[in-house]
Amino acid sequence: MGTNGDVAIVGAGIIGLSVAFELAARGASVRVYDTGEPARAASWAAAGMLAPLTERLPDASMQRLCESSLRLYPAFVEAVRDASGVDPQLRLDGILHAAYDYDRYERLREHLEELHAYGHSAKLLTRAETLLAEPALSKEVCGGLLVDGEGQIDNRRLGRALVAACEARGVRIHTGVASLAVEFDARRVLGVQSDLGYLPASVVINAAGAWAGSLAGVPADCAPPVRAVKGQMLSIQLPLGFMRRTTWVPGAYFVPRADGRLLVGATVEDAGDTRVTAGGVHTLLHAATSAAPALRDFTVSETWAGLRPGTPDDRPCLGSTPRLGYYLATGHYRNGILLAPATARLLADAVQNGTMEALAPFSVARFGTKAGIA
Ligand code: GLY
Repeated sequence: MGTNGDVAIVGAGIIGLSVAFELAARGASVRVYDTGEPARAASWAAAGMLAPLTERLPDASMQRLCESSLRLYPAFVEAVRDASGVDPQLRLDGILHAAYDYDRYERLREHLEELHAYGHSAKLLTRAETLLAEPALSKEVCGGLLVDGEGQIDNRRLGRALVAACEARGVRIHTGVASLAVEFDARRVLGVQSDLGYLPASVVINAAGAWAGSLAGVPADCAPPVRAVKGQMLSIQLPLGFMRRTTWVPGAYFVPRADGRLLVGATVEDAGDTRVTAGGVHTLLHAATSAAPALRDFTVSETWAGLRPGTPDDRPCLGSTPRLGYYLATGHYRNGILLAPATARLLADAVQNGTMEALAPFSVARFGTKAGIA
């Protein structure tokens, strides 16, 4: 691993911390830098859906990556829980996709056939079966598709767990860092300059999420074309068991947490601010209460917004760059929580062994230089 084995990761989100946790387990000396608090930003704002089979994905390479990451999740969570003592509450009890018109129901039937063709377990539910599975849904529901093996994780708990797990493995996490810049010579990365001073590193990994494209000091051919895609969300406090499973409904999704909060997400906006707007809340509440009118009686307990790191083709930027030692782990768009275990494993393989095959479809080289596509 490089010349002295020191790894610097920029971005203490769930991606950066997962990569740090994996590299530290393999013996690397790892520092993580963040201008804010760890596991905030998109890692905190997310809903934690683990849905490679019901989320719309851009192509087969992304499908494979997302499905492989879901398979890694149980062992990843066990390792994080063992190292931290914090249970991030992984639930893989399936995701329901509810249809409210017969066209949509027909599309769910087609999706079921596709899933079966690829060996996945899923079941088309009648209207009565859908209402038995989720009694709070509107009686207008036509039916649903229940996809086994998908689910959710409490991403805020996962963030806390990863911070503790990284620290238990000796990772140094520097938060609230000012004037962060990466230093290079003509061939390779040299280290990180910040208000902590200059710290050399043989490997620097950019895991800065929606801010990854504007990291100071980075040459244009290594800068990922990442843009912020805002998502507004809210939560409704429900009696336990009122909403049982992660569920897609028209215009929104529901993610029920163990403490009775029902997360309702999310808007998709080309914006870089985290304001919660009247329009955003209206859109979410309209979709939620149309799909499940019984929600009208309960308290909205929280509203928030986060910034997804989007890319021009909705696929992440992962792996090496034209400068030796400088790697990317960003651009995960709607699937950052899902992709944490696979990103950690593949980036650690790339850094440690130079293994890049699995990352080839996600190379930043597919975009040319950022300057070139601007
Ligand atoms: N993964 C769902 C979202 O980004 O809203």
